[in-house]
Amino acid sequence: MATENAAKRAAGEKAVEYVTDDMVVGLGTGSTVYYFLVKLGERCRAGLKILGVPTSLATERIAREQGIPLADSWAAVDVVVDGADEIDPHLDLIKGMGGALLREKIVAQAAGRMVVIGDEGKLVKRLGTQTPLPVEVLPFGWEATALRLRQLGLAPVLRRQGSEPVLTDNGNYLLECHAGVIDQPRDLAAALEEIAGVVGHGLFLGLATTAVIGSESGVRIIQRPPSLNRGTNP
Ligand code: 5RP
Repeated sequence: MATENAAKRAAGEKAVEYVTDDMVVGLGTGSTVYYFLVKLGERCRAGLKILGVPTSLATERIAREQGIPLADSWAAVDVVVDGADEIDPHLDLIKGMGGALLREKIVAQAAGRMVVIGDEGKLVKRLGTQTPLPVEVLPFGWEATALRLRQLGLAPVLRRQGSEPVLTDNGNYLLECHAGVIDQPRDLAAALEEIAGVVGHGLFLGLATTAVIGSESGVRIIQRPPSLNRGTNP
């Protein structure tokens, strides 16, 4: 645990180097992003001039505590720094086990650059290797939506706290979909987007441009192969 935290800290702190004056900066969500926010707050208090766009209510609270100024309105973001649950060799991602996937994807799609941060444990050869795929669904008709997901070969489990469904920041439910290794992530993303009750899903394909991977001994940077264009999936 201490090693994992050191790795997350190394990645989060390094990512601040991608932020410069006058940027609109997407602020991701999660325990790795926490270290980024603390370091970014230090820089802001020392005079860095940026406006942040938080991807969750939790991040908004931390950003305010750290003295990071927040944008009142925004349409485009220069760079977003966010964590991930899995990162494959093309920098395709599974995100959203922290429950913030919808706002995270809106910000990632608005961003000119997405820097994903994590420890070595997040690197996988193929998506679906070690984490379920989170899917945010409308509470209305969620069991019908879950049935559609089962027909796609997924095994959705409603996230609950005690007996109550957990609500996302958007007032929706989260289905953790056990999928096994995902052979064709783009096909699965397209199929998910056809289902009316699906509000968002954790496949972030073609969005990350750079990965900052922390370990006990420092950080390494992985760039998305230039031949791979940024994706357009919701
Ligand atoms: C939240 C996310 C997080 O970025 C992801 O779950 C990784 O979190 P952590 O840095 O705590 O391991 O997608 O919705």
